[in-house]
Amino acid sequence: MPTFEEPIVLNTQPLHPGFGLEVMDLDLSSPDSDNAIDALVDELDKHSLILLRNQKLSNERHVEISRRFGPLMTHVLKQFLTTGLPEIYVLSNVSENGKPIGNHKEGWNWHSDLSYVAEPSMGSLLYAVEVPPEGADTLFASMHLAYEGLPADMQNRIRNLRATHSYAGYYGKAFADRAPLTEEQKARTPDVIQPVVRTHPTTGRLSLYVGQDIVKCINDLPETESEALLAELNAHAIKDEFVFRHRWQQGDLILWDNRCTMHCATPYDDNKYRRVMHRTTVAGSRPF
Ligand code: OGA
Ligand code: MN
Repeated sequence: MPTFEEPIVLNTQPLHPGFGLEVMDLDLSSPDSDNAIDALVDELDKHSLILLRNQKLSNERHVEISRRFGPLMTHVLKQFLTTGLPEIYVLSNVSENGKPIGNHKEGWNWHSDLSYVAEPSMGSLLYAVEVPPEGADTLFASMHLAYEGLPADMQNRIRNLRATHSYAGYYGKAFADRAPLTEEQKARTPDVIQPVVRTHPTTGRLSLYVGQDIVKCINDLPETESEALLAELNAHAIKDEFVFRHRWQQGDLILWDNRCTMHCATPYDDNKYRRVMHRTTVAGSRPF
């Protein structure tokens, strides 16, 4: 008798009317969840963001799950790869033995991960190890909704524009009080040119591809026009109706699609509270 595998039925609820899905009753620490994880890969294309609460992931399992989405990238700031697994990038305000264990104030502006490399990340998996009781929410915006929410004449105006994304530019703005990037780090992060409107490689749906400190200019326009348009698009992209605000609990795992969302950290009392977040970053392909 042939045996048939049970189809995977995920217990889900929407997080925002336009995007985002919470998947309930799934324990990713168990190897039994492997088939469900493959189902999540498909759900991510449809919903752009997936939340799973109450997870108990070892670092090894976090990396293992992430690999099912694709090969993983390692961050250029090696000083924050402190778990022993180079695939995990730590975001934290905590120091141990006088050294920060993670990058503090990472992502305190609207961006999608690694847009500053030629082949940006397709998705990230951020796991909450320790969270403050108040503050430090993360905001997520759907760039599909943002693009679709633009008037048709604006869509046509920007459809074929390109923009320069600059990690050095971002670093200089976000971390002006720190030692500058080393020559090696700079060599790994030259400025890159990306389309302003991106096509999702699996669904074909279009999205707005911008970012706050990372995008230096729109290439095809004179400077003042470029600045004005960038400001307009960046302001439009994060309108309330496109944004989902996540209030973290310890054990939350969020997977997001960097090809069609942006996100932004919000502040917290970093003198009073500890925050430790672990991120893996899945490799992606050249935007078009
Ligand atoms: C990230 C990021 C925001 C946050 O992990 O890529 O930008 O709230 N995080 O920690
Ligand atoms: Mn980020």
